[in-house]
Amino acid sequence: MKKSTVVLVGAGGYGASYLSEITDPEVPTELVGIVDVFPENIKNMPDGVMCYPSLEAFYAEHKADIVVVSSPLHYHFDNTKVALENGSYVLCEKPLCATLEQANDLVRLSEKYNKLIMVGYQLCLNEKITEAKKDILNGKFGKPISAKTKTIWKREPAYYNRCDWAGKIQVHGLPVNDNVVSNATSHYLHNMLFLLGDKPDSATEVSDIKAKLFKARDIETFDTAFLSLKAKSKDSIVDVYMYASHAASDQYPVNFEIHFEKGVLFLGDDDILRFEGAGFSHIYGEINVNNVKTKIKAVIEYVQSNIPPVCHAKTTIPHMTVVDFLAKQEVTRVPDGFHFDEIINKLYDKMELEE
Ligand SMILES: NC(=O)c1ccc[n+]([C@@H]2O[C@H](COP(=O)([O-])OP(=O)(O)OC[C@H]3O[C@@H](n4cnc5c(N)ncnc54)[C@H](O)[C@@H]3O)[C@@H](O)[C@H]2O)c1
Repeated sequence: MKKSTVVLVGAGGYGASYLSEITDPEVPTELVGIVDVFPENIKNMPDGVMCYPSLEAFYAEHKADIVVVSSPLHYHFDNTKVALENGSYVLCEKPLCATLEQANDLVRLSEKYNKLIMVGYQLCLNEKITEAKKDILNGKFGKPISAKTKTIWKREPAYYNRCDWAGKIQVHGLPVNDNVVSNATSHYLHNMLFLLGDKPDSATEVSDIKAKLFKARDIETFDTAFLSLKAKSKDSIVDVYMYASHAASDQYPVNFEIHFEKGVLFLGDDDILRFEGAGFSHIYGEINVNNVKTKIKAVIEYVQSNIPPVCHAKTTIPHMTVVDFLAKQEVTRVPDGFHFDEIINKLYDKMELEE
């Protein structure tokens, strides 16, 4: 099989998983360069591959079919723009970028260069989610009515101290907007909007966003969010709720429920996606979330066979719209080490923003 040439931007941290996938001899990719400003962060640096301080320095000597952007999120915009300007396809890690304005600019650039920018939300590529979305689009469950998700993931101060951008509004003059909803738990908000989208590659538009934001750590942004919004799914208006916190006493499995006229599609504590309705139920199976393999496979299919990715820049605009809204809201400081587990469990059951 033909090999696609790849340059990886950000090869330490999460990029290490991309590095091992791209250099796997079974995968039809050839790593032609790495871009990283801290080469000492890179474990398993492959022999004979050069590390460049910027994509511009890489392009001064080489070309690449694909750029995988796994740098910190405040660099996604520039990295993606430079990649498109130099004729490459892009697989950009989530979130697409730091602001809605940047996201809209990237959609325009994607149209200008006639290349979809694939975004690394692995749930969109998950075969169980794909199957469920097909059933939703075929009207098997009737109209959607409401949706909710909760992600209660404990994070210690070390999480915010691991790098210079976690929990920040800006770094080195660049917007970051790193918070619990823009980054770590973004998968689950995006997944609800994606499942409610009226095309295989779209997420539903959002409006009427309301939010309560808190921080129990000394960070610039927030570590806890309760939010509600209206989502337009085909001809229905769906009430969507999200509860996300890093200020928790424990790490719990993610849950979500989407209520339809004919039953409920839900992810329970066992990580199994199911539909249960009157007279009909179906088990889709376990959601195996973290998989760079599926992302690399999808970007290769796009480059080599022109099969468009289901999650691209435009698909993530609703998520970025929420990120933009939240960045302008007030944040309430609660005592250091406060835990939201119990409050979230109650609010999730009632689908409300306050007790
Ligand atoms: N899809 C997922 O489940 C998932 C999981 C974790 C992280 N991520 C995403 O991966 C991306 C990277 O996150 P991380 O935690 O690995 O970040 P990180 O801070 O560990 O940095 C990743 C790498 O980028 C390098 N880097 C820093 N500045 C750079 C620059 N200006 N140019 C090029 N490289 C630079 C670092 O040296 C490091 O090797 C983020 O977008 C994050 O949201 C996705």
